[in-house]
Amino acid sequence: MKKFLDLGFQPLANSYLDIKNLNKREKKFNLSVGYNSKNNLVSILNTVPKEQMFNEDYPYKSSESKTMKKQFKNLAAYIKKKFDPKTVLEIGSNDGAFIKNFSKKNVIGVEPCKNLANITIRKGYKIYPNYWDTKLAKKISKINKVDIIYSANTLSHIKNYSEIFNAINITLNENGILILEDPSLLECIKKTAYDQFYCEHIYVFSTIALHQILKKFNLEIFYIQNLDTHGGSNRYFIKKKSNSKFKISKNVDKNLKKEIKFGLNKFSTYKKFSKKVESSRIKLKKIFDNLLKNNKKIIGYGATAKSCTVLNYCKIDKKYFKFFYDTTSYKIGKYLPGTKILIKKYKRLKSSEVDYVYLGAWNFKKEIFKKEYNFIKNGGKFITHVPSPKII
Ligand code: TYD
Repeated sequence: MKKFLDLGFQPLANSYLDIKNLNKREKKFNLSVGYNSKNNLVSILNTVPKEQMFNEDYPYKSSESKTMKKQFKNLAAYIKKKFDPKTVLEIGSNDGAFIKNFSKKNVIGVEPCKNLANITIRKGYKIYPNYWDTKLAKKISKINKVDIIYSANTLSHIKNYSEIFNAINITLNENGILILEDPSLLECIKKTAYDQFYCEHIYVFSTIALHQILKKFNLEIFYIQNLDTHGGSNRYFIKKKSNSKFKISKNVDKNLKKEIKFGLNKFSTYKKFSKKVESSRIKLKKIFDNLLKNNKKIIGYGATAKSCTVLNYCKIDKKYFKFFYDTTSYKIGKYLPGTKILIKKYKRLKSSEVDYVYLGAWNFKKEIFKKEYNFIKNGGKFITHVPSPKII
């Protein structure tokens, strides 16, 4: 593993601070990112134990976003039509935004964050409040094997992917389909979206790397959908090698070639990326310094894990911000890790109250711009760092 990026000492991105521990020393770790030329994997170099991140305090809820809810609904309809599964299992079922599109008797959820698991358990779903592993896979497959396994934005969180794929192989029917959805490394590098790297994102996968890993587990990608979600993601449709029911689409090769052409299999590409990250930091800091000098009222929109990485890396702290707006009930009244900026309950933006709004949730830009049409019409401005720092 060869290091190409150092994002400094960072707090745990989703560990929002209560007022009572605002002055306590935060746990920090060095956020560095490396590339492994043997398997083409890009991963963070120092990892945090999963129990410190995915526990009963986990703040992220899939159902908070209209975009995500719509995506899950459409995918569920597609799965039913195309694969007509008897049983569907979701790894990382969060607060149920995906599984709620299926009948309770046909769907199983696995969710280790107890606060989230309990939301769906209370509604009567079959949920295992555990981490996904071979032990759980054996337990589930004794009752029934499953036809579809879906997992979105979870594989990138798990260090030991061998355990994941072994467990999947135990539970998945011979003709079953595994659908994985995670941020795309190609989009991350293209957009200089270095904020895809934080404690929870141990890996940001390229198709090249995933394709190679899956081979070891006798699994293969047969179709890929390129999505807009989370700043650019890929949805991989995967089958067991022995399953000849589905032909491998030409678009798999197309995606692989696109990534190779871009250079995702070369260390020099990542070095170039890290230079761009450095100049992105300088540019963003300059924008904030200028606005501060001119006494502009700045707030943040979407207190994301991503914004935690950016603001800590660029050393843009509470001195620049009045506060952040966020819709997630758990985050309201708390403070962003590291920079200690207060998070307030979301209110529609008014240009009479705010001058500039930093897009913490830049991945939901479309949804947000639609919602804040009046603010924009009345001259309100946004700041973003993707694909390069600018005021819009
Ligand atoms: P997310 O996209 O999951 O980013 P990360 O993984 O980096 O944390 O989080 C989106 C956050 O933005 C979430 O806290 C909810 C918030 N949000 C709003 O406050 N308003 C909105 O209109 C949208 C779309 C999101």
